[in-house]
Amino acid sequence: MSFTLSPVTPGFVAEVGDIDLAQPLPQEDFALLRQAFTRYAVLVFPGQVLTPAQHLAFSGLWGPVEKERTLDPKATPARLSGEFADISNLSAEGRIWGESSRQRMYKAGNRLWHTDSSFKRLPSLCSLLYATTVVPIGGHTEFADQRAAYDALPEAMKARLQGLVAEHWIVHSRRRSGFEEFNEDEMKRLPPVPQVLVRTLPDSGRKSLFVASHAGRILGMPDAEGRALIDELIAHVTQRQFVYTHRWRPNELVMWDNRCTMHRGTEYDDLRWVREMRRVTISDVANTCEQEGVACAA
Ligand SMILES: [Fe+2]
Repeated sequence: MSFTLSPVTPGFVAEVGDIDLAQPLPQEDFALLRQAFTRYAVLVFPGQVLTPAQHLAFSGLWGPVEKERTLDPKATPARLSGEFADISNLSAEGRIWGESSRQRMYKAGNRLWHTDSSFKRLPSLCSLLYATTVVPIGGHTEFADQRAAYDALPEAMKARLQGLVAEHWIVHSRRRSGFEEFNEDEMKRLPPVPQVLVRTLPDSGRKSLFVASHAGRILGMPDAEGRALIDELIAHVTQRQFVYTHRWRPNELVMWDNRCTMHRGTEYDDLRWVREMRRVTISDVANTCEQEGVACAA
């Protein structure tokens, strides 16, 4: 192994050193990196200087890159497009965004616990977020381990959850953060989708919860009961013992497994400091119901 792996927690987060992601990765190293990703779910790569093309090339090793952004670019002109999600606080012109800008209102939802793209029928395998400019105070990213949280559930709850399907919809999470104004194009492209509540990860064989703020109800359950169960599970997963707080350094790439983690951004003074980050999102192989062999009509 030519790179160095340094666990930050025993089984959830590790730092990877002695590696240059700007260079093509030997196949044996990528195989070892994949093993590390299977074990840890969050990998941190400090000290990386990457062009967008290099970021994209490394990301593409993990699977198909998502190309469609959530917001309609006509309603919200973006600084980045296509394969890159802009996780900065900059407008299309590269200046700090306006206080009541649509981007800012929409991205407030990233402060809720979520997993990227679970509101898409084909959800995400992983995200690779690269930071060039970080803020001096706040602006951390917290990650929660949904595998460890599943393992810690009482057996009766595990039995109750087996085979349940939640409805994930971007509108559910955005309503909670105060963003209500999706336009017709966005509503059409982003209908509610089904995702199982418990999934099995094919590479490790481990089971994981799969909840997020995008989940609004549970199919076949009264709305209030489903909502209460989702809230209870999110509260369970985000207990301190399952959470790691990442404090960003400039020129750092962090990748995480969207199949078995949740994350959220913590607050920072986004009208004062510039934060510049871009994310590439990799698609999973199939909808989770399909992966689990659970029939869902929705
Ligand atoms: Fe996210």
